[in-house]
Amino acid sequence: MGPLSSFDPEIYEAIVAEFHRQQDELELIASENYVSVAVLQAMGTVLTNKYAEGLPGKRYYGGCVHVDVVERIARDRAKQLFGCDGANVQPHSGAQANAAVYLAVCKAGDTVLGQDLSHGGHLSHGSPVNSSGRLYRAVHYPVDVATGRLDMNVVREIALRERPRLILCGASAYARVIDFAAFSEIAREVGAVLCADIAHIAGLVVGGVHPSPVTHCDFVTTTTHKTLRGPRGGLIMASRDWANAMNKAVFPGIQGGPLEHVIAAKAVAFKEALSPDFAVYARQVVTNAQAMASRLIERGLTLVSGGTDNHLMLIDLGEACTGQDAEDALGRAGITVNKNTVPGERRSPNVTSGVRVGTAAMTTRGLGVAEAVQVADWIADAIAARDDADRLAAVRREVMELCARFPVYPSDLMSAGGAAG
Ligand SMILES: Cc1ncc(COP(=O)(O)O)c(C=O)c1O
Repeated sequence: MGPLSSFDPEIYEAIVAEFHRQQDELELIASENYVSVAVLQAMGTVLTNKYAEGLPGKRYYGGCVHVDVVERIARDRAKQLFGCDGANVQPHSGAQANAAVYLAVCKAGDTVLGQDLSHGGHLSHGSPVNSSGRLYRAVHYPVDVATGRLDMNVVREIALRERPRLILCGASAYARVIDFAAFSEIAREVGAVLCADIAHIAGLVVGGVHPSPVTHCDFVTTTTHKTLRGPRGGLIMASRDWANAMNKAVFPGIQGGPLEHVIAAKAVAFKEALSPDFAVYARQVVTNAQAMASRLIERGLTLVSGGTDNHLMLIDLGEACTGQDAEDALGRAGITVNKNTVPGERRSPNVTSGVRVGTAAMTTRGLGVAEAVQVADWIADAIAARDDADRLAAVRREVMELCARFPVYPSDLMSAGGAAG
């Protein structure tokens, strides 16, 4: 990063510091991952200079011949990966992808039904502080507080009562398999359009370790940067009937020019996800999560729904400790997680009673079951010793030793001129 390091040392140094944070600490935020060097390289390119409003072959700007190649490849790979009829690779993020689906399907004031935010749903599924909850009439289904699982009879009752135009399934903090076929039956029964937001589990879906929603849904939205392990961004898939409406909703509906450098990086990530190695990765993510969950339970911690089927688990800390205190203690031990509400939450969303833990990133750096069990022990130790600075420092030293054995990136990635060098 020669010119950047001398032209803008403040920014350069912050980037280098973040590189070392990622190398030296254990990332257990369930929505994060580490992209490959090839994905980094695609992002740091001259494609960022190009305006390309419209779609490949139908642009509002000249000079799109090469970005058309890139975007067509990205779109074709997305279709191949998920087996969908239509794909739009332009959404800048997962929330943008969802906003485009609302715009494609609903008029302002229409009813949309999604999973409750405090029960694992996402802000963009109708929270009152999000455009989805301000522009549309949002109603929500809960998880069963006793089991921590969705009860499809309850979802059906609410759908029959509320008659939504659009039903969203998919979540940010739900550890169990989502029954897309059951959602599809309910949507058909009440005459709703169905969208699955698989932002979290997309990598597991393409890796064959979670059922695919594609044949059951009118739309599927996802982020590209979580278990799918691509650049930060969004993707929408649609059935043949909805493909046109999808494209118009993205542009000119909610966005201007697409980020073609990010679309190039999405294409690279899709190529990676199409390889047999990715299925091995996805399986290992779930195996690691289940090993970690079992160990946490052995160590006396409570997990919402009693375990996990996917890449994440939600620890319910009960009365003794808050999510904020656990997040802070784990942070001091070199383990990054996020506090999270639990079903039936009694504390504020700024404090919470839970932490969410995920294995997508640690699996990318090569950690397996033995390490997952060790990490679970450190989590249990750090939460128990949350007021003991010496014990937390001792865990941090062990975490750093493990991280040094499993580097995310070559150590000279920054000094070699950056990934795009
Ligand atoms: C289920 C779900 N949908 C959408 C999003 C939003 O994605 P982004 O942050 O890229 O807008 C998230 C992000 O956490 C998510 O978990």
